Amino acid sequence: MKRALPLLGALIVLGLSLYINYWLREKSPQPTSPPSSPAASTTTIPSPPDYTFQPATPDGIGKLFMGREISHVMGHQAIDWLERGNREQEEAPSKMLAAIDLPPDAILADIGAGSGYHAFRLAPRLPQGRVIAVDIQQEMLDFLTNKSRELEITNVTPHLGAIDDIKLPPASIDAALMVDAYHEFSHPKEMLTSLHRTLKPGGRIFLMEFRGEDDRVPIKPLHKMTEAQARKEFEACGFRFVENRRLLPWQHFLVFTKP
Ligand SMILES: C[S@@+](CC[C@H](N)C(=O)[O-])C[C@H]1O[C@@H](n2cnc3c(N)ncnc32)[C@H](O)[C@@H]1O
Repeated sequence: MKRALPLLGALIVLGLSLYINYWLREKSPQPTSPPSSPAASTTTIPSPPDYTFQPATPDGIGKLFMGREISHVMGHQAIDWLERGNREQEEAPSKMLAAIDLPPDAILADIGAGSGYHAFRLAPRLPQGRVIAVDIQQEMLDFLTNKSRELEITNVTPHLGAIDDIKLPPASIDAALMVDAYHEFSHPKEMLTSLHRTLKPGGRIFLMEFRGEDDRVPIKPLHKMTEAQARKEFEACGFRFVENRRLLPWQHFLVFTKP
């Protein structure tokens, strides 16, 4: 019996230490996977800065977005200038349209379509798709309707937008085209917010603006934009800059996407 006592003591000590070890492991905090970052899981539209105001310059409306004075809207009386015969030599629109790489069933909104100079040239390249020609002037839409009949083009749809809203359903377009138009939107912030809603995720914006950095481009300053300014405004409204294709004689060819 006397010889068994040390063995019994050793067994008790061993049992106790195993129990304490188990208890400590159960109670200590276990490693967990890191919480997922909200920025990675949701796409939020940032809130762009407010407009500022100043006395209007001769070509502007006195309202500024991110430091840029917005220009007057070109009236429908200038349709002849949009349709001018030497536009191809000056702006190379055929080169521009050839670089708009979309599948044949794409739905594209030409925002600020005017007389439809680009819409009617682009539509045959989207035989299973459609060009929605958006403008705020009814006279432009009447011109577009007559021209559709004359050219027998059935996939250009004239559409009346508002100064601050494209007025198309959410996620209903694959791409947007804006040629020489964005700089005259009186509510660019609201228009870009509405475009963000209207574009499908991954959809692209093709933005053509006369180059503000280039003195050789014979256009009034408020009807031009720099690449830096365009990027600032579109990025503030939730779009991602993709590239400047630099292939046109007078305009920037900027591509943005909705992430
Ligand atoms: C200079 S024209 C350009 C027309 C056409 N993109 C072209 O290059 O031949 C600009 C057009 O944008 C239109 N516009 C201005 N603000 C607009 C807005 N918020 N939404 C849609 N169109 C607008 C004007 O009515 C005008 O027809």
